[in-house]
This record gives sequence, C-alpha cells and structure tokens, in this order.
Amino acid sequence: MKAIVLKKFGGVENLEIHEIAKPTILKDEVLVKVKAFSINPVDVKTRDGEALADMLKDDSPIILGWDISGTVVEVGKNVDLFHVHDEVFGMVNFVGHGRAYAEYVAVPAEQITQKPDNISHIEAAASPLVGLTAWQAFTHFGKLQQNDKILIHGASGGVGHFAVQIAKYLGAYVIGTSSAKNREFVLELGADEHIDYKTEAFEKRLNNIDFVLETIGYDNFRKSVSVLRENGTIVNLPSGLTEEDEREAEQKNLNACYFMAVYSSGKDMKIIADLLEKGIIKPHIQQVYNFNQIREAHLQVETGTTKGKVIVAI
Ligand SMILES: NC(=O)c1ccc[n+]([C@@H]2O[C@H](COP(=O)([O-])OP(=O)(O)OC[C@H]3O[C@@H](n4cnc5c(N)ncnc54)[C@H](OP(=O)(O)O)[C@@H]3O)[C@@H](O)[C@H]2O)c1
Repeated sequence: MKAIVLKKFGGVENLEIHEIAKPTILKDEVLVKVKAFSINPVDVKTRDGEALADMLKDDSPIILGWDISGTVVEVGKNVDLFHVHDEVFGMVNFVGHGRAYAEYVAVPAEQITQKPDNISHIEAAASPLVGLTAWQAFTHFGKLQQNDKILIHGASGGVGHFAVQIAKYLGAYVIGTSSAKNREFVLELGADEHIDYKTEAFEKRLNNIDFVLETIGYDNFRKSVSVLRENGTIVNLPSGLTEEDEREAEQKNLNACYFMAVYSSGKDMKIIADLLEKGIIKPHIQQVYNFNQIREAHLQVETGTTKGKVIVAI
C-alpha cells in the first residue's frame, strides 16, 4: 500500500510517499481502507520534532496523522461491533502512533464509530480530533453549563469552529475570537459576539466569564485568566504553560483545568456522529488536497490561519 512516511523530523520535504506492507490487525482491531484523513496542528508540530515526536522517534517507519474516515475491509476475531463494508470514522491511537496517512490503517475497534450516511468521508475525516477536543473540554475536563458565558479563542479554526457549535448546543452564550476576515463565519456558526484579536484587546472588553477555551498559547493564557470570574474554568489546549501561568490561575481560585489532552474514544465519537447526523454540528472544509499534495497541506496548516479544516482525500 501507499503511505506517507516521515523520513526524519523537520520540514515538509521529509514527508515522502513510500510503498510499504499493509498493516496486520490484532484481535481487537479492524482494518480500514482510508477514503480521507485530516491534518491537525499536532501533525505539523510532530513533523517538526515537537509534540509527539519523542513518543514516535523509535518507531519505524513513522507515519503521521490520527483522523480517518473509510471502509472496514477486515475485522479482528474479538470484534463484533463492526463488519466488512461498514463506513467508519475516528481518531486513531491518540496519544500514540496513529499512522493515518496511509491507504490502510489498523484501528482498535473501541476508537471508531459508524459514519452517518448524510455526511461525506471528507466531512467525517474533518471531525474526530476537533470534535472530541471540544466535547471532552466541555463535558469531561471542564463542565460547561447552560447559560454559561464562554470565550472561545481561535473560533474560526479547526477546534474553535466545532467548539462554537457544540457550546451553543450545550446552551452557552458564546464569544468567539478570530481576525476580522472570519467575523461573519464565526457569527454564522452561532457565536453571540465576535472579537477581532488584531484590533481589540479582549481582556479590556470582557470580565466575569465562566469558561475559556484557550487555543492560542503564550500570554493569551494569562490574559484569559484575567477575564474569568472566581471559580471559573479555563481549559488550555497548547502545551507550554509556565509555573507562573499556573500560579496566576491558582491565585484566582479557579475551578481550573490548566491542560487537557484529547483522547481516542469510540463512545465520544458516537456522540459526535449523532450531532453530525442531526446537523447540529457541521465541519467547514477550507481545502481538500490529494495524496501527492501532503506537503502543501502541511504548509497550509502551519500558517495558523486555517478556516475550519484541511483534508487529504485518497
Ligand atoms: N491539548 C489538546 O488536546 C489539543 C487538542 C486539539 C488542538 N490542540 C491545539 O490547539 C491549538 C488550536 O488548534 P486548531 O486545530 O484549532 O488550530 P488551527 O485550525 O490552526 O487554528 C487556526 C485559527 O486560529 C485563529 N487565530 C490565530 N491566531 C489567533 C489569535 N491570536 N487569537 C484568536 N484567533 C487566532 C485563526 O483565525 P484568523 O485566520 O482569523 O487569524 C484561524 O482560523 C493548536 O495549538 C493545537 O495543537 C490541542
């Protein structure tokens, strides 16, 4: 089969298409013929030697990627939930080696769910990591309540555009940040207010916020802490919080969750699938690339200005 192998950590020139053996499956796994996969910032950071690079460095070959949608072609002997020809999607082995940039991927059956018929493989591939991140941030790591005021940073990005839709579904009042070019998009997703981070300091406009989803990093964490109410919640996605950041949050007596790591879960994927099927959430696809354009796809995600998601279709 064809797979995109990472020769060594570094620039996009290290992503190469190789012919390698199809994976063999364990008894709790299924083999999925991949129709589409998505690119997330963690793929780009890992390619560059950060994020999960340390975890993957002794594996060979290294195949990046975690989000897939495709068709089951083989079923392990302990698997009774799925059958050959089922259309499935999910986030494979996160945190671990996903090996999603390939024609075939071996996936633990407990990490995937059936793809709803009314969405394409491209839309399905867009949804697992960002959908699970928003869902787990609001219901596992933090507890977003009805009528909470939530500030969602990067509301036009992969995580943000799902987070806005899921927060509205959960009954929150949503304030989303992005630059002006994505203002209408963020409001159309359902946000009640928009702040253009390039022209307005959100920490001057807002206070008494119940919940922040922090997706940006650097000093954005501390500015976000400053707008929270006592006992508010901040779920932080980028790594790299300093001890001082955490001390500042502790001083505010927050009901804080300073860092979350999204994890593979077929049970949570089923919830995401239901929300997609009912049209409660809808992925926005900025661009679909083909297998040979993996380097261009990575360069787009690396800009940090993607609107919605970047997909590779096979
Ligand atoms: N810990 C975890 O479990 C976890 C899970 C998922 C993601 N993450 C991390 O979370 C971060 C976000 O992921 P993502 O997939 O949403 O990234 P993304 O799709 O690349 O986000 C891009 C969006 O961010 C907006 N943006 C850029 N700078 C901004 C700023 N200063 N303020 C507000 N918005 C800004 C951009 O809007 P404009 O183009 O309008 O500027 C763009 O639409 C990444 O660092 C990712 O690795 C962590």
